Amino acid sequence: MSRAAVLAGIGACLPPRLVTNAELAARLDSSDEWVRSRTGIAQRYMADSSVLTSDLAVGAGSRALKSSGHPHVDAVVVATTTPDRPCPATAPTVAGKLGLGHAAAFDVSAVCSGFLYGLASAAGLIAGGIAERVLVIGAETFSRILNPADRSTSVIFGDGAGAAVLRAGSSTEEGALGPFDLGSDGEGVDLITVPAGGPPPEGGWPDPVPDDYYFTMQGKRVFWLAVQRMGQSAQMVLDRAGWRVDEVDHLVAHQANHRITRRLADEIGLPRERAVSNIAEVGNTAAASIPLALVHAHAAGTLRPGDRVLLTAFGGGLTWGATTLIWPAVDPS
Ligand code: COA
Repeated sequence: MSRAAVLAGIGACLPPRLVTNAELAARLDSSDEWVRSRTGIAQRYMADSSVLTSDLAVGAGSRALKSSGHPHVDAVVVATTTPDRPCPATAPTVAGKLGLGHAAAFDVSAVCSGFLYGLASAAGLIAGGIAERVLVIGAETFSRILNPADRSTSVIFGDGAGAAVLRAGSSTEEGALGPFDLGSDGEGVDLITVPAGGPPPEGGWPDPVPDDYYFTMQGKRVFWLAVQRMGQSAQMVLDRAGWRVDEVDHLVAHQANHRITRRLADEIGLPRERAVSNIAEVGNTAAASIPLALVHAHAAGTLRPGDRVLLTAFGGGLTWGATTLIWPAVDPS
């Protein structure tokens, strides 16, 4: 038994504007049928221009704090690809808006792996005795960096935020985060990238917006790398945790594409029905995807106390990671 980070609360926040495939297909050379069959996505939510990533993060964070039953944390970690500004980080703004006093606050930039990297950072702060309670938030206004003329990315991504509170506890408790695996491969830096720019400054981007300011992804190459890297990372933490794959009740993988999640389940030898999926409702929300999937699966009664959960993600960088936990009794947020 050793000191460990234990999941104590979860929360989510989606912007109100729902965007269907049909709405996007009306302006792109695409169709509802193509998007559903190639990605599993039926709709996504998009923030209006007045809504910042920090606003969504505060919504998810406040719900996670409420769910944890404790209003304070010692540190706030925000995982995001779409910070409010290039500098400073978004986390201090979030901590301030949440009334968290002088809590430590920093961002993690690992694109779609960001929430897992954030969990690992928080677990390290707790294991090292630097913090007793940490709020980890994955938040994105990804729609801001999408090229409206690029049909292969515009139909995939959505906005939103999900959060978790971790507290210091024991490694044998339900909710204790298990072993982590994290990795990167800088040789793939150009596969998922925003080469220039940054989030729009006040007053907006230059008109017309240079293409380099937008997100680009080489989808087909990323597809297979995602399956391979998440599969290896998942297997690594299963081995370290001493779990057999048939003991895993739920796979909560980054929601990039339902075909990726199904292939990943096949790759590690898990029945596909044990893979949690909410991509139909929210699309790919990058750093927010894993906590949003956890909140939705918890609310649906899919995740029950005592269930064995395997988390894994893959994203730009390239980056990837995985961890395990036994689902605890968590209050609804
Ligand atoms: N509507 C209609 N057709 C589209 C389209 C859209 N929205 N987007 C792409 N297409 C077309 C392509 O132009 C291509 O046409 P062509 O054969 O005439 O050239 C065809 O569909 C196939 O494109 P391809 O890129 O091979 O499709 P795909 O089956 O690989 O699906 C993705 C594209 C992006 C959905 C898929 O590659 C994917 O999900 N990749 C991984 C994403 C990911 O893992 N991200 C993780 C990090 S966030």
